[in-house]
Amino acid sequence: MATGSKTAERDDDVESREAVVERLLASMTWEQKLAQLQIGYRPRLEEAKELVRAGIGGVFWPRSAAAANELQRAAVEETPHGIPLLIGLDVIHGQRTTFPVPLAQAASFEPGIAETDARISAAEAASGGVNWTFSPMIDVSRDPRWGRVVEGFGEDTRLNSVFGAAKIRGYQGDSLADDNSILACAKHFVAYGQAEGGRDYNTVDVSVQRLRNIYLEPFRAAVDAGAASVMAAFNTVSGRPAHVNEDLLTKILKEEWGFEGVVVGDADGVQNLMAHGVATDIADGLGQSFRAGLDVEMGGNVVDTDGNTPLSPAEVPLQRVDDAVRRVLRLKHSLGLFSNPYRDEASEILAPSGQSRAAARHAAEKSIVLLKNEDALLPLDPAPKRVLLVGPYAASSDHLGAWVQSFAEPAGTLAEAIRAECPDWSVTVMEGSPFFQSDPALLDAAVAAAAEHDVVIVAAGEPSALTGEASSRSDLRLPGGQEALIAAIAGTGKPFAVILFNGRPLVTSAWIDLAPSVLEAWHLGLEGPAAVARTLTGAANPGGRLPMTFPRSSSQIPIYYDHENTGRPASISATLDEGDIDVGLMGPDNLGDVFTSKYKDLPLGPQFSFGHGLSYTTFSYGQPQLATEELPLEALHSGTKVSLKIQLTNTGNRTGDEVTLLFIHDRTASLAQPVRRLRAFTRTSLDPGQTKTLEFSLGWEDLGFWDNEGSYLVEAGEFDIYIGGGLDDTAHHVLRLTQ
Ligand code: BGC
Repeated sequence: MATGSKTAERDDDVESREAVVERLLASMTWEQKLAQLQIGYRPRLEEAKELVRAGIGGVFWPRSAAAANELQRAAVEETPHGIPLLIGLDVIHGQRTTFPVPLAQAASFEPGIAETDARISAAEAASGGVNWTFSPMIDVSRDPRWGRVVEGFGEDTRLNSVFGAAKIRGYQGDSLADDNSILACAKHFVAYGQAEGGRDYNTVDVSVQRLRNIYLEPFRAAVDAGAASVMAAFNTVSGRPAHVNEDLLTKILKEEWGFEGVVVGDADGVQNLMAHGVATDIADGLGQSFRAGLDVEMGGNVVDTDGNTPLSPAEVPLQRVDDAVRRVLRLKHSLGLFSNPYRDEASEILAPSGQSRAAARHAAEKSIVLLKNEDALLPLDPAPKRVLLVGPYAASSDHLGAWVQSFAEPAGTLAEAIRAECPDWSVTVMEGSPFFQSDPALLDAAVAAAAEHDVVIVAAGEPSALTGEASSRSDLRLPGGQEALIAAIAGTGKPFAVILFNGRPLVTSAWIDLAPSVLEAWHLGLEGPAAVARTLTGAANPGGRLPMTFPRSSSQIPIYYDHENTGRPASISATLDEGDIDVGLMGPDNLGDVFTSKYKDLPLGPQFSFGHGLSYTTFSYGQPQLATEELPLEALHSGTKVSLKIQLTNTGNRTGDEVTLLFIHDRTASLAQPVRRLRAFTRTSLDPGQTKTLEFSLGWEDLGFWDNEGSYLVEAGEFDIYIGGGLDDTAHHVLRLTQ
């Protein structure tokens, strides 16, 4: 089996597995071996069956347990070796029960949310015959123009590592042989999140140190967590497409990290090598990919339905092909497919259960971020009042998010959820603006209606169709007439709150100062509307934090918290005064600070930083206690940890959650270091007046960095350690590492 203790097999299982694998391998022809090295997609069952009869090793899920059984039966009964199938599907944030999109889950800063999602999703998917998911996506994402930021865990490396590992544990469970376990797939290997201009599939050119420090780390954590598979990315990495990148697929992943699972290509990623201009034809692409370390091609180009392959034994060493086949067969064995590849059709889970809905609701509530709350406008008390709910999301059911499964349970609307949650309110629902155009008549009607109501809730956002794969955007403002709607509602003088439903950071600068209260509600899945309704009334208290920076302008991208200082950092105190542009100053009031790193026409810093998020209660921190202020490097290297304690108190009058973030800054090093790096985080729920002591520890793996030669260095010197509720609000200590 793949690596990692969670999915480790007993010695006798391994022995029998190896015996089965070697027996098969010894009797397979070149073509039969290659047939195992692909996963094919054919929407029609009969066509999929033809591939299976030709000996293909994996197929995409044919949509039911009965159909999956039919394909397994064809594989077992109608092929010479009777090898069962891997059956794959993108089970990303739910199968029947849809959880919040991964970016929203990251906002919970509670990895247990991701693990529970994966566990429930695995059980639902496995019951229908799926045994392999192409999840989690752990591409560190610092460019919100890229639509796929929604599928991952945001801009921070540690957050991606921790959430990715949690997902893998959830999908794979304690043992792959369990009925409810499926193979996980860490994707996309690697640096896909750095596509130039945020344009999907675009070029990635990256230094070794950045590749290792930022993009590879979550994959290393995934391998440590026992990920059974890893998917090669579509992009080039410094000129070489990931699919044919031996340095990445073999040297780093398999040799340096000891990854024993399967490297799968992305959909038609081998075919795309011709467009990349590195392969002349499919045979050339396949040959290069397998030689570089790819084990399974996604698309089905390796063997045709007659079982013939364009690859000759001269193109890929037999040893390499045998290694790939072994990896595939071992996974099949670990899943228990050789003993029983069939599912009980009567037990297929076709709809959410009460329990899975409750988990999805919990996850949705934990993922909401309170961006602003002037004069504590929120929560709204449930006492009778006239509420105008306006905006394209008021009556929309588009809550499931980017990887919505066509067969998933549909979500309801916010209007329905608010009416159910607050039966004493009189709620008027209006569109105000369509998603994509302006409509003055709708706008005027909304403004007129506002006068007749006590409070207005604007439900605005970015439809999920604008997020996900191939959904890059150059302008991150709310689409259509939504900004005008918010401004018009602000103009009425009525108290109002904005709720945002979106799958990426948005640019809110045109209206954010006009809105007293703003809730970031992402695409929260099946139970999203109910979670939002409960948060509006205070039945749930928001405690999520932003996992990605919200820029002031799309032109400020990429912008992320763990940037380098530069040789000429600008003063962070400068702001853009409203009148500056009118008087021709064209910039923040730090223009005297001429030769510093900034934009002349923007205030410094983002609109909302990574880690930002408020609550309906308040928290305070005590003085942090660092167990030691000085430590020899040698002690750190041999396992000594630096421990840190801090007291957290809920000083408000509601139960609530606080996310505590621990950042470091290596003051002087041989390579420029980020101004802050998140090393640990925890989320704590406290009752009013309750205090808890939080404990963290920092070790060798937390205090070093990778250099451009691929070495991991921990250097002597001073480290700032910041701990608290966010980037601005942090107590500070200095740790000295000595030679
Ligand atoms: C995506 C992958 C996905 C695959 C299979 C590709 O287009 O990039 O993330 O797993 O399709 O659906």
